[in-house]
Amino acid sequence: MDKKRILVPGGAGYIGAHTVAALAAAGVETVVVDNLSTGFLEALPPEARFYQGDIRDKDFLDSVFEKERIHGVIHFAAFSQVGESMADPLKYYDNNLHGTRVLLSAMVDHGVKHIVFSSTAAVYGEPRHIPIQEGDPTEPTNAYGATKLAMENMMAWCARAYGLSYVSLRYFNACGAQKGGAIGEAHNPETHLIPLILQVPNGQRSHICIFGTDYPTRDGTCLRDYIHVMDLAQAHLLAMEYLLSGGKSDVFNLGNGVGFTVKEVIAAAEAVVGQKIPAQEAPRRPGDPAQLVASSQKARAILGWEPHHSGIEEILQDAWAWHRSHPRGYQSCARR
Ligand code: UFG
Repeated sequence: MDKKRILVPGGAGYIGAHTVAALAAAGVETVVVDNLSTGFLEALPPEARFYQGDIRDKDFLDSVFEKERIHGVIHFAAFSQVGESMADPLKYYDNNLHGTRVLLSAMVDHGVKHIVFSSTAAVYGEPRHIPIQEGDPTEPTNAYGATKLAMENMMAWCARAYGLSYVSLRYFNACGAQKGGAIGEAHNPETHLIPLILQVPNGQRSHICIFGTDYPTRDGTCLRDYIHVMDLAQAHLLAMEYLLSGGKSDVFNLGNGVGFTVKEVIAAAEAVVGQKIPAQEAPRRPGDPAQLVASSQKARAILGWEPHHSGIEEILQDAWAWHRSHPRGYQSCARR
């Protein structure tokens, strides 16, 4: 990807910022567009050029495409909270689907042909079998997943009509942080399991709630495929290289292919932080499938992707290094 310039909408968010860091480390020129509604300027490396604005603003996007010669887009700009998407689906259709529509029209207008974008395991809904493969039925059980599936479909039609090529990356449970703890996960409010567990040893919460203990899993708690954010970041680079070298549009799962239950993640976190983490059993969280585990054979075979940080201990160590050194997230997070 030498001498290529990549536009990264949503590049100041969690997975976006880790991907921008990986692009910068690989010497790729990066132009980040973010409205900073959920992202943080502090998460960006000095090499990244930054434009603050909203992808739903076509004039703004046109001005960026005019100033920068863009070769490809890695698109992260979207809302991603399942619960919020059920309470306010129109907010999700507006930002995720309408925002992507405006972005695609700007790409078409400016002759930019390649896009890699964030999709999710939530497009599958309740899986029929484990591990989940890309050809399995897509029946989202929440509005967030429905908007991501609609984005995938919109890409497919645009690829046919305008000669775009796209890769959709369906992440399973993104977690961990860049080595060294300079950037990491910071959501406001936080809803994800690992950051919430680590708030206990950080003195920010007395205990973790376990949402449901009567699932059909080995210990009754939900089982998930936790994938290190730096492994996800690497997949975006490989996917963009694949498109730039003529690869055809496609959809890929990204996970380790191994599931851990909520209780197992808590036990692993206790071992990493070296203290007991009190847990309380609570009712099921509506909409949670019992198990989500990816088959990522396709990403391995076609993109040459290989997770390098797949141990749950390593994931928790990296997450802990970030949360311990940034108990209130980024500076702007702390000011809120
Ligand atoms: N959980 C708890 N206690 C908590 C928080 C979470 O027990 O305080 C449980 C959840 O019920 C779930 C597991 O921990 O079983 C993981 O929950 P997360 O909220 O961390 O992640 P999800 O699996 O719900 O969400 C992930 C992605 C979403 C995606 C979804 C697909 O973060 O973007 O998978 O279902 F939509």
